[in-house]
Amino acid sequence: MHPAATRSSQKTIEQFAKYVVPNYRRYPVSLVHGEGSNVWDAEGKRYLDLFPGWGCNILGHSPPWVVKAIQHQIEHLIHVPNTWYTEAQGDFAEAIVTHSFGKVFFANSGTEANEGAIKLARLHYSHQGTGTQKYRVISFENGFHGRTYGSVTATAQPKYHDGLGPLLPGFRYAPYNDLEAVRALVDDETCAILLEPVQGEGGVNIATDDFLKGLRQLCDQREMLLIFDEVQTGMGRTGNWFGYQHTGVQPDIMTLAKGVAAGVACGAIVCQDHIAPSMRPGMHASTFGGNPLAMAAGIATMKIIEEEGLLQHCQQMSARFHQHFVALKETLPIIKEVRSRGMMIGVELNIPATPAVGKCMERGVLINATHDTVVRLLPALNIAPTQVDEGYQVIADVLKQMAGEVHAGTSHS
Ligand SMILES: Cc1ncc(COP(=O)(O)O)c(C=O)c1O
Repeated sequence: MHPAATRSSQKTIEQFAKYVVPNYRRYPVSLVHGEGSNVWDAEGKRYLDLFPGWGCNILGHSPPWVVKAIQHQIEHLIHVPNTWYTEAQGDFAEAIVTHSFGKVFFANSGTEANEGAIKLARLHYSHQGTGTQKYRVISFENGFHGRTYGSVTATAQPKYHDGLGPLLPGFRYAPYNDLEAVRALVDDETCAILLEPVQGEGGVNIATDDFLKGLRQLCDQREMLLIFDEVQTGMGRTGNWFGYQHTGVQPDIMTLAKGVAAGVACGAIVCQDHIAPSMRPGMHASTFGGNPLAMAAGIATMKIIEEEGLLQHCQQMSARFHQHFVALKETLPIIKEVRSRGMMIGVELNIPATPAVGKCMERGVLINATHDTVVRLLPALNIAPTQVDEGYQVIADVLKQMAGEVHAGTSHS
């Protein structure tokens, strides 16, 4: 038993069965303690976590300086609503803007940030008292934007819409990286184009520079807002502060969440200065948004990334993972493609990827599978080179075993 545990995993699993809505498929262990890229279950087994917090734990588990910042903050203020000013919210907004642009609105999650961004785009082209002028939003196949009605409607994947209709009106979907298809969908009522600069849940698909530049031009020509959902790509994940900085194509609105406060619930909308006044008082709000606790965690997160040179480290560790997997691809025909940008790593297989998750877990390594065939990693920015090698070795062994099973016709997937 791990010293942080008060009961076995099995006891907690039984408690969940009795009291918790069963909407998540959970792995059959209860996690009790984490440090950086390591996490332990109630039985004391250690796992190397290459998918910490589904990307939220951008500095790994319980990073000490973030813990200290939170401890300091809670002794003064935990929550203050937005009818007041707080130093923490001002400081975090300033830190984000200093590394990006515009002005910030704080929310609590990715879906909430996207919901607000969609509202802001419609508000921007409406005139008070005269209704919405432009309202259509174009988003992309295999994108993922969240689970509330606006965001799930923007998520152009039928499997996430099943049974939820009617969805929010005014959305059109285009294939990713297909500028001509987008052009054909734009009309005078289109107010925004919404996309992830790298699709995460959709399988680590990277937008081409030409596509993003083309969308920027199209938005300028047709008076539409370009919205980047950087919920997953933001806050250093790709080796730059924000994903858009790889191409220099600046969006009008960028949404953030996941790693933005190193695991404390926090979302944000960053918009260009001239757009900010369109969020008129009374038109949007969030009771918990911008609370001092999340803000303190966010400020500490940015400080650590800066002071420890983690953007550069992220790029180096990314190259290390990439080289390992590309070399493996040479010997293992079940690997179709390796795609990576910073600490977003996708290994596309030509067989189902889900069995790899359980097999890696048995060997003490936590990974994810997405979009049926893609092994996905979102490691912490501060992962050590030895941990990259340790994790890779286990994944490689598992993929070799899976390839062997396919070859022998014994695959159970
Ligand atoms: C790109 C992107 N947008 C939005 C979301 C939704 O974020 P949340 O779960 O915090 O609502 C996610 C979550 O995976 C995401 O990856």
